[in-house]
Amino acid sequence: MNLKILVTAGDGIGPEVTNEAVAVLHEVAGIGGHKLALDHKRIGGVAIVQDGTPLPKNTLDAALASDAVLLGAVGGNEFNSLPPDKRPEAGLLAIRAALGGFANLRPAFAFKELAVNSPLRPEIVDGADILFVRELLGGLYFGKPRAWDKAKGEAHNTMVYTKDEVARVARIAFQLAQKRRKKLTSVDKANVLEVSQLWRATVNEVAAEFPDVTVEHQYVDAMAMHLMNQPRNYDVVLTENLFGDILSDESAVITGSLGMLPSATIGGKVNLYEPVHGSAPDIAGKGLANPLGAILTGALILRHSGKLEAEAAAIEAAVRKVLEQGFRTPDLARSNPQGFTVLNTTEMGAKVRETVKTLLVDA
Ligand code: NAD
Ligand code: IPM
Ligand code: MN
Repeated sequence: MNLKILVTAGDGIGPEVTNEAVAVLHEVAGIGGHKLALDHKRIGGVAIVQDGTPLPKNTLDAALASDAVLLGAVGGNEFNSLPPDKRPEAGLLAIRAALGGFANLRPAFAFKELAVNSPLRPEIVDGADILFVRELLGGLYFGKPRAWDKAKGEAHNTMVYTKDEVARVARIAFQLAQKRRKKLTSVDKANVLEVSQLWRATVNEVAAEFPDVTVEHQYVDAMAMHLMNQPRNYDVVLTENLFGDILSDESAVITGSLGMLPSATIGGKVNLYEPVHGSAPDIAGKGLANPLGAILTGALILRHSGKLEAEAAAIEAAVRKVLEQGFRTPDLARSNPQGFTVLNTTEMGAKVRETVKTLLVDA
């Protein structure tokens, strides 16, 4: 298997965590005799500084010519006063739009070894296994008109969805639910928003194509609570762009840290892979970042773009084993009564590589 991956490491902890993900991918590919062709290009704040734009043309061209794009994170406090279309985040939204993936899969899996690291009680989180399917190319993020009229003291954004946009992401969510526990929860605000009423009606229409999947609808405010009270109750959670952004970060509480969450965006020309977390300026450059979300994102590249299920599963198993052995990054050991061994970013990456090698060579 030959896989051409473009790495856009971005800002803050982006390069720190993608380095570890790439090293794990090299380790796994080397063992299996698979060829990885890796290229690196700039995106986000680093591209604003060096190229004058958050998404340089050579980055986009390279992305479109690859099999998969692995993105670290973008953003930094020094760009906070820029308008949205000039910020590092604009580069991320532009590459998402250009690659065309509309279904952002964000698994929130509670490794049982991490139940003690969640602020929620272990008996609540243990066994939780949720797959968020977040619509990624619509809603408030891309709707027009949008503007901030400073003279008038007024700003607006537009939440817009077409029926086709809802149906295509819903179909992917139902297909994934069929391969899992056959339950789909669609999250909206249909008690207030017309967009959500369209969303709900369309999800119900698509549901008729999948009679084996049980569907329920929840309002987003109640869902935010249910997720914390009974995370085990949920299988596939389908929602629009902004609600999905918020609920998936919230679910980091179930897994113990935002640094644990991977994502894959499918349905477009080239799949885009990113950990869920951002550039974490508060810990950047200190070796404190948890690389496991990025490493698990690497596993998703192998699964979805490489069709290398055994290798993807081996990376996930290696992460579990490392946790089982009591290794933690600082975000997972804020208080450490259990006496975990706390590792920095590169040490954690090395542990996963060492472990995945044992798993694949023994197998
Ligand atoms: P953030 O996700 O960067 O950080 C939130 C908190 O989680 C921070 O305390 C951070 O230290 C911690 N954290 C995040 N990832 C971690 C990891 N791997 N290991 C340990 N701790 C981790 O969100 P924020 O602080 O709200 O945003 C910072 C910048 O990142 C902003 O510019 C924002 O727009 C950007 N952002 C980018 C992406 C992306 O590029 N995909 C995603 C989210 C936020
Ligand atoms: C994410 C981030 C992005 C989003 C930002 C940085 C544009 O929060 O990937 O979750 O809102 O989609
Ligand atoms: Mn987010």
